[in-house]
Amino acid sequence: MTNQLSVDHLVGIKELQKEDIELIFQTAEQFKNVLNRPIKKVPSLRDVTIANLFFENSTRTRLSFELAEKRLSADVVNFSAASSSVKKGETLIDTVNNILAMKVDMVVMRHPNPGAAKFLSEHVDAKVINAGDGAHEHPTQALLDSYSMRERLGDLAGKKVVIVGDITHSRVALSNIYCLQKQGAEVMVCGPTTLIPKYIHELGVLVEHDLQTALEWCDVANMLRIQLERQDVKYFPSLREYTMMYGLDMKMLNSLSKKIIIMHPGPINRGVEISSEVADCDQAIILDQVENGVAVRMAVVYLLAQKLRINA
Ligand code: CP
Repeated sequence: MTNQLSVDHLVGIKELQKEDIELIFQTAEQFKNVLNRPIKKVPSLRDVTIANLFFENSTRTRLSFELAEKRLSADVVNFSAASSSVKKGETLIDTVNNILAMKVDMVVMRHPNPGAAKFLSEHVDAKVINAGDGAHEHPTQALLDSYSMRERLGDLAGKKVVIVGDITHSRVALSNIYCLQKQGAEVMVCGPTTLIPKYIHELGVLVEHDLQTALEWCDVANMLRIQLERQDVKYFPSLREYTMMYGLDMKMLNSLSKKIIIMHPGPINRGVEISSEVADCDQAIILDQVENGVAVRMAVVYLLAQKLRINA
């Protein structure tokens, strides 16, 4: 087992090896133990300064990264595009280089444009972590999703996971597909034809348009939010009709021949993709996902900081 990541930045799951994923999970397990102690902090990154740059809204990812960094004793600065000079026309590279001039070692960035994290990693002298780039990738979400599945199911090889909903606009879907396949899981996507990319089967996933059939097939259902903010045209007649076809309620969940695990990356639209009862039921591990997010992000930040020291 390697003790170093094969990558210098985390821009996507696509670039990771299976061994990287295993290393992140082993490291996260140790940090989860730390988070359950009375003093939830280690001094590992006292010499590291991290900037969290959010050019797009976030609740979970932003707070989770900030907590993870503070639990590792890093110095942390937060930047929100809404209140910055980006509004005055400054470029991404100028913005980030100005921040780096203040001796920042690592950048965690959420950005509306696909490829923004990779672009940044090629143009600035700091470790870069992608906290979501448009409809492209959200690697730490996929890692915390897999970590949470493994807590319930053990090794994911041979396990069946269906991702339901707006696959076209979802960075969570793409990162999960890569992450699950690298661990040997089978992946299906389910949703209306208009929300499933035409060439998705080339990624080796199954496609199913009937929710009940998909749920009967799977061990885990990851229910995605309809990303209205990324939809410039209408992809289905109305939210009410979407819910009738693809919303998961207790009646459907209880009608299945086995108990499946329900996941959701958040934010949830209660009553649209899942009912409130499903979101709060015993089979749902939505808050476990959020809890595990801190440990997984501690692992990613810690392992990239190790590379910072090796490269110094
Ligand atoms: N899951 C997720 O990325 O949530 P936020 O948009 O609140 O960060």
